Amino acid sequence: MLKVAVLISGRGSNLQALIDACARDDFPATIVRVISNKADAYGLVRAQNAGLDTAVVNHKDFPDRESFEDALHTELSNAGVEFICLAGFMRILNSDFVNRWRDRMLNIHPSLLPAFKGLHTHERVLEAGVGFTGCTVHFVRPEMDDGPIVTQAAVAVNPHEDASRLAERVLLLEHLIYPEALRLVAEGRVKVVGSKAEIKEATYSNTWLVNPEPMIE
Ligand code: GRF
Repeated sequence: MLKVAVLISGRGSNLQALIDACARDDFPATIVRVISNKADAYGLVRAQNAGLDTAVVNHKDFPDRESFEDALHTELSNAGVEFICLAGFMRILNSDFVNRWRDRMLNIHPSLLPAFKGLHTHERVLEAGVGFTGCTVHFVRPEMDDGPIVTQAAVAVNPHEDASRLAERVLLLEHLIYPEALRLVAEGRVKVVGSKAEIKEATYSNTWLVNPEPMIE
């Protein structure tokens, strides 16, 4: 059973998807700690409702990024954490921290990486007029929103929808692909080779294409 920490900063809907997955008998991972850098993150309530151990490591309590990350690392080590899932964790992590957890830390991003890295992805997707977008779970590397891709899901963009509707549709897929990525990793089926994640006995279960909605204006 892979011991996982989930790091959050806010709403925690992806955390909830991971909690729900881990509650299933046949799921090969367990959440041993939920850590937030914000005391008022709603995800902490979700974690407590599920009976999970939580901790707040507030970056504002530390003089610099290094000491914040050291505290984070201590918290993770004390909890016996073997693997990290970033789920809406809104702090950039230094390369020292990232390298300590190399190939043992996943992130979810609401676009089809490597396109649309950074914030406000859905607004930028609509502005760019692309036909497809989606979400990506990837191993974390020091560069933001970069790293070997484990799972992805694509949706057709409806040019008449707004960014919040698109965000909702993508979010539903996030909740599908994050548990699936964690399952693949925890089953030992993911091997990082160079800049790619290879999935053992891949059956395309790590990629999804969701049918478009009818484009009614
Ligand atoms: C998600 O859209 C995720 O892809 C991004 O931040 C958002 C977090 O949402 N990294 P939630 O806190 O999981 O609901």
